Amino acid sequence: MSIKIESLRLKNFKAFKDITIRDIPRMCVVVGANGAGKSTLFDVFGFLRDSLTDNVQVALSKRGGFKEVRTRDADGGIEIELKSWYFGDLAAVETGLEIDGLTVLQTKAKYRNPDNIPHPSKELKKVTENRYQKVSGSRVIGKHLALDNKRSRSFRNFINGVRGIIAF
Ligand SMILES: Nc1ncnc2c1ncn2[C@@H]1O[C@H](COP(=O)(O)OP(=O)(O)OP(=O)(O)O)[C@@H](O)[C@H]1O
Ligand SMILES: [Mg+2]
Repeated sequence: MSIKIESLRLKNFKAFKDITIRDIPRMCVVVGANGAGKSTLFDVFGFLRDSLTDNVQVALSKRGGFKEVRTRDADGGIEIELKSWYFGDLAAVETGLEIDGLTVLQTKAKYRNPDNIPHPSKELKKVTENRYQKVSGSRVIGKHLALDNKRSRSFRNFINGVRGIIAF
């Protein structure tokens, strides 16, 4: 399963009370002192994998249960927000941001395979003439995404994964 991650936001996941990591490159090296949270960062993906292959309950219990996984002094839920695919559905971008004429760009060779665009959020800023903002932009676009869109393999994997979680 391949999902290209553009940014990651964690709330109440172990040592990470509220963090956002943006512009994650295809290959990255994480450096930090002991206990800084390097293993925790990678375990986010382990947690998601366990949630997808088994279910959230299993993922939590493998890590000592909800109380161990949630940040110790927190009282909200655990939130994991991943951002990826921006170019797989320019019709959603057009509707969400109320910008005309984006959908037609989808046929350009460059945008036909959205998983191959190296810096999708920068590219999106360009085509929307800076009207796209990372978090707020993604939220307004998200509502309009066609869930059966086959253009992006990583989007398909993601939707199937989320469907797996919801099924439990
Ligand atoms: N539920 C939790 N709430 C708050 N902090 C937590 C929670 N669970 C673990 N931690 C803290 O997270 C830190 C562990 O981070 P992690 O093991 O990811 O560090 P690391 O960078 O991989 O360190 P090392 O270099 O030793 O491998 C510890 O300081 C631990 O106390
Ligand atoms: Mg470690």
